[in-house]
Order: sequence, then C-alpha cells, then structure tokens
Amino acid sequence: MNTDLQPTLGGKTVSFIGSGTMAEAIITGLLKQGMVDPERIIAAGPRAERGHELARRYGVHWTTDNEEAAEGGDLIILSVKPQVLKTVIPQIRGHLRRQNLVLSIVAGAPLKLLADGMAHAAIVRAMPNTPGQIGQGITVWIPSQEVSAALRDEARLVLSALGDEICVDDEDYLDMATALSGTGPAYVFLFMEAMIDAGVHLGFSRRMASHLVMQTMQGAVAYARQNDHHVAELRNQVTSPGGTSAEAIYQLEKGGLRTVISKAIWAAYQRSRSLAVGRPRGTLPE
Ligand SMILES: NC(=O)c1ccc[n+]([C@@H]2O[C@H](COP(=O)([O-])OP(=O)(O)OC[C@H]3O[C@@H](n4cnc5c(N)ncnc54)[C@H](OP(=O)(O)O)[C@@H]3O)[C@@H](O)[C@H]2O)c1
Repeated sequence: MNTDLQPTLGGKTVSFIGSGTMAEAIITGLLKQGMVDPERIIAAGPRAERGHELARRYGVHWTTDNEEAAEGGDLIILSVKPQVLKTVIPQIRGHLRRQNLVLSIVAGAPLKLLADGMAHAAIVRAMPNTPGQIGQGITVWIPSQEVSAALRDEARLVLSALGDEICVDDEDYLDMATALSGTGPAYVFLFMEAMIDAGVHLGFSRRMASHLVMQTMQGAVAYARQNDHHVAELRNQVTSPGGTSAEAIYQLEKGGLRTVISKAIWAAYQRSRSLAVGRPRGTLPE
C-alpha cells in the first residue's frame, strides 16, 4: 500500500453558502491537505469584494448567488451565521440533488430544522471551534440517518481539515459540545487574559507576561496529553504542602472558580438549546 496517497474528495465540488471565517478555515485546510482542487470550490456570499479576495488568495470560484452555489456543488457547506439561516434555507430548497451532502456548521441549527427547511435528507450537523482555522480545532458532528457510509467518510475528511473530529449518535451532544469545545476557546482566552493582567500587576511587561502565559498554557497541555495521570494528579504534583500553588489554589477555590466554570458551561449549553428552539435571548437556568 502506498501510504503517501492522501485521501481526497475524488473530484467532487464543494460549495460554501457563507464565505466568512470558518468557511475560509475549511478552504485552507482542504487545499493544504490536497483534498480538493481550488477550481472545485465555490464560495458564495453577499459581497463581491469578499469573493474577489478568496479568489485571489486561493483560486476558488465565487458567486453572490446561493442558488447557483447549491446547484454547482456536490458537497454543500452551510457556513452562515444562525440569524441568516432563515434567508438562506428557502434559497437552497429545490436546488439540491438527492445525492448531495449538506454539511452545516451553523450553531444551534438542528438536523430536523435543516432537513425540513431544505426538503433534503442527507445532512451532517457539525460544531467546530476557532482553532480549526490553524488545523488545531476539534469538531463534534452527527450525520442524519439518510447519510450513506460513503458520505459519512466524506464529511469526516472535510472536518479533519480543521483538526480532530468526533462523530456522535445523539444530537444533544452537539449542544453540549457547543458549550464545551465550540465556546471553549473563549473561556481559555479569558483565563489567559486574566493571567496576563495578573502578571502585569506583578510588574512584568505585557509582552513578557503574554509570553510566560502562552508558553505555560501550551506546555501544560502538551504535558497533560503525554501523561497517563488524571489532571488532578498533575496539579497535586506541583502543589507542595504550604507552598505557592497551595496558596493560589486556596484562593481560586475560595472564589468559586470550579462552580463558576461549571455554571458558565451549563449556561452556554442552555443557550445553545434555546437557540435551536428559538427561545428569547438571555434566558438562563435557575
Ligand atoms: N467562528 C467560530 O469559531 C465558529 C465555531 C463553531 C461554529 N461556528 C458557526 O459557523 C458559522 C459561520 O461562522 P463564522 O465565524 O465563519 O461567521 P462569519 O465570518 O460572519 O461568516 C459568515 C459569512 O456569511 C456571509 N453571509 C451573510 N449573509 C449571507 C447570505 N444571505 N448568504 C450567504 N452568505 C451570507 C457573510 O458575509 P458578510 O460578511 O458580507 O455579511 C460572512 O462572510 C456560524 O453559524 C457559527 O455559528 C463558528
């Protein structure tokens, strides 16, 4: 077997309905890994300048006509903001072929809503995250029952362009992943920001505090990944009796860090579920 052979989409055309940040991340990954040729990509969006930009940068086709993009694609990727979905779905309806796969990365849009709206059965719903833009993301995804094994493989291949991917069999995991990994980078950035500010408070320059925090984060993650121990054990390893870590952790626990994180992620989960059923903004659990 020739292990140099890269898996590809076999000459299929990939159409993006919505050509923003995440679409560009997927385009970059697909091209970088040679899964598809640029002339097999159609990027649709309302602004011609954006189309020109993507064409110049990647050599892809572009259009401002969603119907044209849907008709021209074998794999149609829905990558618009959730609030734009109600405009886009009726435009696509009636322009899909039965063998098309629609892959949606739109937060909070359930399979049934998509299938009913587009009158199309083969759909994958996915929740990627921002590190996907550099191929370091994690995506949780679920195929509708009508997605064949071959189309599942295709979806997996496309999503792998963003990093790791996990296929699940219950759609609730998508809302859970939205709260944990989809929104996760925001929590990590906030934590980093707080640590950097604390470093500046101590007297470090912002540049040095940023460097120390970024490398600490990166090193801690790499170390935890290479280690068989539970993360609590790793934390214990750096917590000597009466030492600095013990003092700092006491303050973090006293401030309710664990509870706040748990509540925040629960709130994000509820918000994701409420987006799906159209509940009003700001409805939080008791
Ligand atoms: N960013 C993330 O980390 C992330 C993570 C997980 C899931 N998602 C999901 O991915 C989706 C896309 O997010 P994003 O960050 O890539 O957003 P984005 O950068 O705003 O991209 C959305 C694109 O859709 C275009 N658009 C607006 N109206 C349109 C229409 N009627 N027809 C076709 N295209 C239209 C926008 O064009 P204009 O700029 O000209 O308005 C924009 O280029 C969202 O549903 C989000 O929930 C994002």
